[in-house]
Amino acid sequence: MNDLAVKLCSEHSLSLDGYERLIKSRTPELAEKLAKEAAALRKNIYGNDVYVRGLIEISSYCKNDCFYCGIRRSNREAERYRLNPEEILACCDEGYRLGFRTFVLQGGEDGYFTDELLCGLILDIKERYPDCAVTLSLGERGYDSFKRLFDSGADRYLLRHETADPSHYAKLHPPEMSYEHRMKCLRELRDIGYQVGCGFMVGSPYQTAREIARDLKFIEEFKPDMCGIGPFVPHHNTPFRDMPKGTVELTCFLLSVIRLIHPPVLLPSTTALGTIDPLGREKGIKAGANVVMPNLSPVEVRKKYELYDNKICTGDESAQCRNCLSARMESIGYRIVAARGDIIRQ
Ligand code: SAM
Ligand code: FES
Repeated sequence: MNDLAVKLCSEHSLSLDGYERLIKSRTPELAEKLAKEAAALRKNIYGNDVYVRGLIEISSYCKNDCFYCGIRRSNREAERYRLNPEEILACCDEGYRLGFRTFVLQGGEDGYFTDELLCGLILDIKERYPDCAVTLSLGERGYDSFKRLFDSGADRYLLRHETADPSHYAKLHPPEMSYEHRMKCLRELRDIGYQVGCGFMVGSPYQTAREIARDLKFIEEFKPDMCGIGPFVPHHNTPFRDMPKGTVELTCFLLSVIRLIHPPVLLPSTTALGTIDPLGREKGIKAGANVVMPNLSPVEVRKKYELYDNKICTGDESAQCRNCLSARMESIGYRIVAARGDIIRQ
């Protein structure tokens, strides 16, 4: 291990320059050593347990126009759908039967999902399944909205910060979207009492080791409960269609680094990682991740929630996804557990 890696393992922190140099100096041998350290840290806290989240993609309508995203409003070819509360509850029923104890409601920023509708839905889910956690991933909303949803029973909120560098943020988003507002939302969610997740795409256009170093510093300081990182994968109908995709190698390296920076963090091995490599999710877990998020959306809509090209799991039934991931985790010595899977802060 080089000096930086040794320092990271013992102090769980590097300077901004240190993170940048660590990324630039990585080798396959170093990645392997850091993955071992990360896996040992995770094992101390979570054993061999992998938590599952049932992902319900509730709407492909989005008012935003992020340059990377397949469901951006300017993509006229995107097929739009939204699930109504009954359909979402039916997904939860199926999910509960399959052993899920966390439901993640994710979607584009869709005005149909008013506070009133969402509060009613969250109350219904919590009434049926008081032992389950509800995670929201519905983009930026106002403080009062976040607060009402929390007061109705939502436990967690995922809002990837996308990049911790304001000028990089401006290259990924249209001018009406702002880095400051995204960060403000994250602080508000934390203040309200949610378990909060941030995150970013690995290999997003214009990202260099310096930008990633800023992401790592942000994670070190913010100490999120969850952190979603996955490779950028181009979508054929976006301005970034010709940009290269992120790599499994760098994604896994960063999963290890994030585990070392913030040992208790809940870290998913993402669908995007499984999309660019058939064994991507297994590799992510081995590198230090401890969460997988099988799809619980109705099969009819899955292809329409196309954030990037060739997304996996779009033709499979929920039970198939669940069983497939169980088998994959067992093949590498881990087991999926039917638990809410809250963060264990030491
Ligand atoms: N609308 C919500 C939001 O903005 O947080 C949630 C849905 S959004 C589609 C979920 C995440 O998908 C984004 O935070 C982004 O990081 C990721 N994503 C979008 N396009 C992607 C792409 N082309 N490749 C990989 N990930 C992508
Ligand atoms: Fe909707 Fe990015 S375009 S989340």
